[in-house]
Amino acid sequence: MAHPNNDIVPTVDGLAYGGDYNPEQWPREVWDEDVRLMREAGVNIVSVNIFAWAGVNPGPGEWDFTRLDAIMDLLANAGIKADLATSTASPPPWFSERHPETLPVNAEGVRLNSGARAEYCPHAPAFQEAVTEMASRLAARYAGHPALAMWHVGNEYYRSCFCDLAADAFRAWLQDRHGSLAGLNDAWGTVFWSQTYSAWSQVLPPRICAETPNPGLVLDWQRFSSDALLSLFRAEAGAIAAHSADKPITTNLMVTGDFSGIDYHRWSEYTTGPNRLVATDHYLIPEHDSDIAWPAQVAFGADASRGLAGGSPWLLMEQAANSSAWRRGYFAKKPGDQIRHSLSYVARGSEGAMYFQWRASRYGAERYHSAMLPHGGADSRVFREVKQLGAHLKRLAEIKGSTVVSRAAVLLDFESSWAAKTPGQPSADMATYPELRRWHAALWRRGVTTDLVNPAWDLSGYEYVFAPHLYLLDSDANLRAYVEGGGTLVIGPYSGVVDRNDRVHPGLPGAIRDLTGVRVEEFMPLPEGAVAVLDDGTEGRTWTEAAHALDAEVLASFTEFPSTGALFRRRLGAGEVWYLATRPVDLGPLLDRLGLTADVPEGIELVRRRHEDGRTYLFAVNHTDAPQRFDASGHDLLTGRPWTPATALAPGEAAVIRE
Ligand code: GAL
Ligand code: ZN
Repeated sequence: MAHPNNDIVPTVDGLAYGGDYNPEQWPREVWDEDVRLMREAGVNIVSVNIFAWAGVNPGPGEWDFTRLDAIMDLLANAGIKADLATSTASPPPWFSERHPETLPVNAEGVRLNSGARAEYCPHAPAFQEAVTEMASRLAARYAGHPALAMWHVGNEYYRSCFCDLAADAFRAWLQDRHGSLAGLNDAWGTVFWSQTYSAWSQVLPPRICAETPNPGLVLDWQRFSSDALLSLFRAEAGAIAAHSADKPITTNLMVTGDFSGIDYHRWSEYTTGPNRLVATDHYLIPEHDSDIAWPAQVAFGADASRGLAGGSPWLLMEQAANSSAWRRGYFAKKPGDQIRHSLSYVARGSEGAMYFQWRASRYGAERYHSAMLPHGGADSRVFREVKQLGAHLKRLAEIKGSTVVSRAAVLLDFESSWAAKTPGQPSADMATYPELRRWHAALWRRGVTTDLVNPAWDLSGYEYVFAPHLYLLDSDANLRAYVEGGGTLVIGPYSGVVDRNDRVHPGLPGAIRDLTGVRVEEFMPLPEGAVAVLDDGTEGRTWTEAAHALDAEVLASFTEFPSTGALFRRRLGAGEVWYLATRPVDLGPLLDRLGLTADVPEGIELVRRRHEDGRTYLFAVNHTDAPQRFDASGHDLLTGRPWTPATALAPGEAAVIRE
């Protein structure tokens, strides 16, 4: 596949290395030390002005670019590029005081106070106008600045608001989507509980109400809220593009946890392509709070990011050098972790490694968040590793623009994940993201490089496609084409169940019934901790179904009630489709059956990047505590040494082998 957008950071030499830089928090003398240490560490780009609205626009109609000019000039003189942010993620108190209607209202109907950040209503005209003006003024002033590398719109969009302005905008959005009130009543099935609307004014955001709200409404609200944030992003991006035609425009998307509530695939028309860049922030969940070890979490965040970029290169905009203090306490990374993690992100398509943030803040809510330059200063393990990573990344300049080769895909559909969370589900434990992460980690352990992609995209390049949980599906057409064309598709339980309006398809499992050749008679969720035993010796958890083969082979059955098929396979066209009527406790035996056995020991991460002209690079990271050998030949770019299959990769070390 040709990637139209493969020099995503064109003005930076080699890979991007740096972090959020907030010099406004420090006296001028510290800036000189910052720049000296950045150069020592090989930092070549920093994100500036992320939260500095109050500096640039200190009051209504007041504009003061003195400090930002000085920061941009400082960077230009030091040969460091700027990812220049529009600062619109945090309106200052004067703005909220002057425009109280821009403060967000929560689902209880309570208007939040100012005093933190992200205090805005996406639907408030005063906010929309202010951010567009801000973006336009910044772009007009800095478009030609020698430090400018790219534009950073807002910061981690996620805010939703339930105010009256939101209600008006929601009604207009619904009118557009459903055509008429009759169309809306039909889509949401409002005949249920006598919810039928007779006037648009009766339609409200899903504010707290007496009982379980209408799931169709909840789902449309998610879509609407995602679209509203997209409009904000587009307004700023458009204002920038009017002055600055040649520099990439980005915003930092979130791939931590359950992402952000935004349909990033729907956004991709505006976040990918010429002069756009997919950038993501990824923070790890402490290992004692997660079933998934950090290296596999890193791989998931990276593979998700690559998916959002449609396979093109992308950029890791934020990670933590050490602890993220907001995650229930302070959890230090092990020595070398940040280097291994960063190389793994790069292996998986990132065009560099960036952090939140350059220098630890002395004050404010994030004063205990880690940084490249910690409170402990430059004489610290963290900063020594930062320098080592900078040196590594410099040696990898030639991989810029190459892309990742993946055998498999896991399907991620934002709307489906939202629908699976709507109220009134048969099980509280059938969450989507943890299951996607679990499957991804099982593939990671076997060394299978996996993309996270949308079910409607072209899947024909993958040997294996996994749909661990595709609750909402309107039509099986794309999946069918993939299977008939020779692919192997594995579908997890409780998939294909509802249509785009969260209405249950007649004849379960709905949209995938014909495709799988399986009939589901009844759902039988399991209580927490319970397992269902299968006659192949494996176990299922969380969920079982009374499922019968219509036109499929039964590969395994439950040993007790519902004692019908638990694992099915159907050959179709040149490929095959597998269906699971439970969530396997251990995914290993299933991957064995599929022929996905590991050819390297667990904990050795091997990922290949390839240039269009055929040059390839094998990234190897040894997450184990023993030396490891694997089949590779060439030159290690990190050490300059030749590599043969006899070369051992030391514990905790990494190599990037030019093959
Ligand atoms: C990100 C955010 C940063 C900082 C960081 C701390 O979500 O974009 O501004 O708050 O988290 O982990
Ligand atoms: Zn609002």
